[in-house]
Amino acid sequence: MKIDCTIDGKTLTLSLNSDKPLSLILRENMGDEGYVNHCGGQMCGLCAVLVDGRAMLSCMVPAFEIRGKNVVTFESFRRTRNVKDIEKAYESVGAYPCPDCYASRTMIFESLIDEGVSDSTQILKELSMVRCPCMDPDDEIRIVQKGIELRRKRNVRRTQFA
Ligand code: FES
Repeated sequence: MKIDCTIDGKTLTLSLNSDKPLSLILRENMGDEGYVNHCGGQMCGLCAVLVDGRAMLSCMVPAFEIRGKNVVTFESFRRTRNVKDIEKAYESVGAYPCPDCYASRTMIFESLIDEGVSDSTQILKELSMVRCPCMDPDDEIRIVQKGIELRRKRNVRRTQFA
């Protein structure tokens, strides 16, 4: 089966002959060692990517499901302006993910901030994908709320000066 998709801004046609997970496709096509299946599936939460803006564990997404979709890995996300909002939110709250889960957690924060999710229960549910215990749940909630505030301010400034 052949599918078209976009990964980190590159339009690709992938030949799929099995139900490979997206994490392996990323490794094979983007050379991204960070997306190796770390745990055998849904145990560590260290493989999150954005699929059409929504954070998903790449080891749990069958590759055929990304047909026509836009996949963004942390490697390209870290070079966007949006990551600055999250870095500022980390700084403002005074809490940061550890190096092990930084990429994955940051992608989940981005998904929540982009969708404007401010409900604590929903924030913690999404972030529970990451099993690393390095962050305080109250800090995670504050980071999302701060990130939403910073993103809104930046968007207002952008429309004012457009
Ligand atoms: S590799 Fe562990 S949850 Fe995806």
